[in-house]
Amino acid sequence: MCGIVGYVGPQPALEVVVDGLSRLEYRGYDSAGVAVLADGKLDTEKRSGKLANLMTALEETPRSSDGIGIGHTRWATHGPPTDTNAHPHTDGDRRVAVIHNGIIENFATLRMELEERGCVFASQTDTEVTAHLLSEEMKNRGDDDLAGAMRTVCQRLKGAFTLVVMDTANPELIVGARRNSPLVVGRGEGENFLASDVAAFIAHTRNAVELGQDQVVELRRDSVTITDYDGNPADVREYYVDWDASAAEKGGYDYFMLKEIVEQPQALSDTLLGRVTTDGTLTLDEMRISPAELRELEKIVVIASGTSYHAGMIAKYAIEHWCRIPCEVEVASEFRYRDPILNRQTMVIAISQSGESMDTLMAVRHAREQRARVLAICNVNGSTIPRESDGVLYTHAGPEVGVAATKTFLTQLAACYLVGLYLAQARDLKYGDEIRAVVEQLASMPEYVERVIGTVDRVRDLARSLAEASTVLFLGRHVGYPVALEGALKLKELAYIHAEAFTAGELKHGPIALIEDGLPVVVVAPSREGRGVLHDKIVSNIQEIRARGARTIVVAEEGDEVIRPFADEIVEVPSVPTLLQPVVATVPLQVFACELALAKGNNVDKPRNLAKSVTVE
Ligand code: F6R
Repeated sequence: MCGIVGYVGPQPALEVVVDGLSRLEYRGYDSAGVAVLADGKLDTEKRSGKLANLMTALEETPRSSDGIGIGHTRWATHGPPTDTNAHPHTDGDRRVAVIHNGIIENFATLRMELEERGCVFASQTDTEVTAHLLSEEMKNRGDDDLAGAMRTVCQRLKGAFTLVVMDTANPELIVGARRNSPLVVGRGEGENFLASDVAAFIAHTRNAVELGQDQVVELRRDSVTITDYDGNPADVREYYVDWDASAAEKGGYDYFMLKEIVEQPQALSDTLLGRVTTDGTLTLDEMRISPAELRELEKIVVIASGTSYHAGMIAKYAIEHWCRIPCEVEVASEFRYRDPILNRQTMVIAISQSGESMDTLMAVRHAREQRARVLAICNVNGSTIPRESDGVLYTHAGPEVGVAATKTFLTQLAACYLVGLYLAQARDLKYGDEIRAVVEQLASMPEYVERVIGTVDRVRDLARSLAEASTVLFLGRHVGYPVALEGALKLKELAYIHAEAFTAGELKHGPIALIEDGLPVVVVAPSREGRGVLHDKIVSNIQEIRARGARTIVVAEEGDEVIRPFADEIVEVPSVPTLLQPVVATVPLQVFACELALAKGNNVDKPRNLAKSVTVE
């Protein structure tokens, strides 16, 4: 997820573009850059780090600009966040400048082809191929039809992208294109804007046009022309934006956390993009641990903290079942002070959304000292943990501004499943058919999560009705137990309510003494498929606590009529294979915690005493 701005109009473009970027920094803050035309010549400036670094550079070398420019805030995917990898990217002749949001899946093949034809690349990004392709296309055609070139080039790209380009031969034109990533036009008076969201131009105009899938826009001062990739006029949605500027940054939501919960289907798609192929096989080349090395592994150890640790707990169930390799999971802050038994045949998976948690980083160092191979699962490209690991799988969830992890958790789960399934594939395990079926279901998880999000209004009402509760318990079994832990953690950190999770089987060994009249207990029911025994057991557990007065809120599969009579409240989620159930079952618990906290008047983006990345011990 990156932030994109484009401007054509009578004002000096540099100021307009930088101002737009300042409202999009939440979309990426690894690096920022701008390209403008000044006296018809292309002028670019880009800097790694926050937008402030770019602004300082622009102040140090004051410059003028014509009324056309583009700008970008980056959330790195391909290539670390350096000055060189910052956008815009240009072709060899420096005639076109391109900015991009998304991932171009087939960039490696395209880059190889371009290099064979003599192109020299300046960066490690997937984006740069588009600059070379656009300029090459115009040369081959022998014209300066930038929009035509964009239409042709887009048809060669696979993946998700918003592209915005300017060209010295077209000094009054910006061209944009989109597939699976957002792009909105702002229509002004004698000036027009392009951005990844309306926050960038709301200070100038509130008249917006949303581009549809696979469309190209030509933006001039006085005109906006939108076509499909074949050049036919396209249907578009025009609307008026009535949000205030701060709501606009949050996509119209009051809090980033609410927006980030809703973004989860897209985030999951981005994690899976290019890694799951249609024939049910997986490609994880960026893991940098070869299939031969994976075959030699004898043990896996997952280390993580907080929510990431819950993702690790779920990974254990999946990895042991699919790969038949022993898998341990440990909180990073404990692991690093133990004397764990590791060797070259051990793969340590370090899960950290920020890539900077001190506990997890120290645990990684501890593991590497003992020659274990370390694979990081991380959301922040170029952060310390991936840099110090042997391999990395980025989750590509985009920046998460809310302190409480939501979309990064779901995408960590997806990444853990990918690793487990890839390991099973590399080790050529007998679960062939089961694994292919799971891969197929995994690819459908974004749709399932979308469905859950469409039905959470009832959860909101329920949460508000419990705003006065002083304790909420959570129960689960099998993969439902880490989900229960995650539900309890979210409630603690957001609503400041005492919340505890137990495996339902442990109830009778002590926690059942806590049950009293009216106590809300959230139960994550196992799916019936393959875990029928556990389903029956949890029905008994629910009966035991209801008999003692608990108010049961049960998260169960759609159509689970067996459990319904025992639930005071039922929250239905789609039926998916057991091991994938946490992806759908967690979402209502995120909404529950968030809504309950809001009902108590808490700021869910900035819970008290907490920080987004914990860089101290
Ligand atoms: C909870 C939460 C924290 C983090 C933990 C680890 O909502 O966000 O528990 O999961 O601090 O952080 P990372 O994943 O950045 O290592």
